[in-house]
Amino acid sequence: MERKNILPSAEELKRQQGFIDLMRAENERFEAEQGRKKKMLIVTFGCQMNAHDSEKLLGMLTEMGYTKADNEEDADFIIYNTCCVRENAENKVYGNLGYLKHIKAEKPDLKIALCGCMMQQPTVLETIRKKYKHVDIVFGTFNLYKLPELMYMNIESGSPVFDIWKEHGEIVEDLPAIRKYKFKASVNIMFGCNNFCSYCIVPYVRGRERSRTPEDILKEVKALAADGVKEVTLLGQNVNSYGRGLEKEVTFAQLLRMVNEVEGIERIRFMTSHPKDLSDELIKAMAECDKVCKHIHLPVQAGNNEILRQMNRHYTKESYLETVAKIRQAMPECAITTDIMVGFPGEGDAEVADTVDVIKKARYSGAFTFIYSKRTGTPAAVMENQVSEEQAKRSFNAVLEAVNPIIYELNHEKVGKTYNVLAEDVSSSDPEFVTGRLDDNTLVHFKSDRDVIGTMVQVKITDNKTFYLIGERI
Ligand code: 5AD
Ligand code: SF4
Repeated sequence: MERKNILPSAEELKRQQGFIDLMRAENERFEAEQGRKKKMLIVTFGCQMNAHDSEKLLGMLTEMGYTKADNEEDADFIIYNTCCVRENAENKVYGNLGYLKHIKAEKPDLKIALCGCMMQQPTVLETIRKKYKHVDIVFGTFNLYKLPELMYMNIESGSPVFDIWKEHGEIVEDLPAIRKYKFKASVNIMFGCNNFCSYCIVPYVRGRERSRTPEDILKEVKALAADGVKEVTLLGQNVNSYGRGLEKEVTFAQLLRMVNEVEGIERIRFMTSHPKDLSDELIKAMAECDKVCKHIHLPVQAGNNEILRQMNRHYTKESYLETVAKIRQAMPECAITTDIMVGFPGEGDAEVADTVDVIKKARYSGAFTFIYSKRTGTPAAVMENQVSEEQAKRSFNAVLEAVNPIIYELNHEKVGKTYNVLAEDVSSSDPEFVTGRLDDNTLVHFKSDRDVIGTMVQVKITDNKTFYLIGERI
């Protein structure tokens, strides 16, 4: 099936609600017969966008009457929300699917669904059709909201259902979503990417950029605030180009100012920013909006101008550092974090030295470092000067050696000072500690009762552990 949805959002939502009701009736019948509810497992790979999509999957499945399973063996319905940005994420899905084959052999009623970025690639679909015949439902990034209909079709027909679209249709608003945290939430402000960085598969699997209207976004943020949310993260592959193409064009800076006015919201975060589009207007809005956290994720990828050109990033080392200087000038306390990729075709020690130079000048508070992974269909995959694994590992180490001491130093400056912290969770390493985040996104662990979770507390920093801080409540 390659058609787009044609119904307007509200009608499509109503249609899917009908399938949710049918599935719920089916599940109630099961419960009456078996004396237990059906259980589901959602496994999410990849970025925050996928994590947020999974909250929508969870919302729909919960409305169908499923409860959560603890693991694969325990589940009646398993869905993998996949990622294809790097090869290892794909390999994990194939590995897991191999394992599920054994479980399904013993539990033939188990239903297996796959969705997300990986499914938008024709070669992946072919492999699944041929080698993984135990998969029941497959859909992609453009039709996530159709899960109820596809599940019902699968039951009715008794055969596998594949529904992948090549491009996006209408944005379907107001899907039921269940958040992981009561007090913080992600909000999509746009979908897709038009940048075509030469190594990246995202524009091929998430389609062209399209923005939600400010009205729809504000309606969602206000509803979240009314539901107890204090922190929102505005999500897009490149938030700086938000609003282009809308009937009434609006900039991301203007959107930030609007969200800043929503009563009840205390913190606003956003990601990701492309350095080429980061405007002075945005820096000014960030500096002036009290609720906007002083943290910007600004992926640099590489520091060498020729590599940046080959990557199709549309900025130079110098212009990137100028942007960093502007941010620092407007907001001296602003944390800047980044993504760095090593091992891109043509990148040797001399080129990595430029990346290290940028790291030292930009002084990142955090960096995700990746080894380049060849993605079939992208321009970089057919570049001739692919880099050896040995070189890539050497570059990786050089980057970490530059990044880590700076993170340590920046965090060290915080020791002895007191910060506003949003308490988020019980610490995974010590149940007597709670984990929270400073405005600039730094993690801090502090001794406390759990009842502070979801509230803003004052924490004095007492120790620096490089990637997180230790503090005490005051
Ligand atoms: N190989 C390795 N890392 C990649 N990224 C994107 N594409 C690839 C690839 N082919 C990284 C970039 C991006 C982050 C989300 O993933 O650093 O910013
Ligand atoms: Fe990929 Fe570049 Fe788009 Fe980010 S901006 S999703 S790296 S193509």
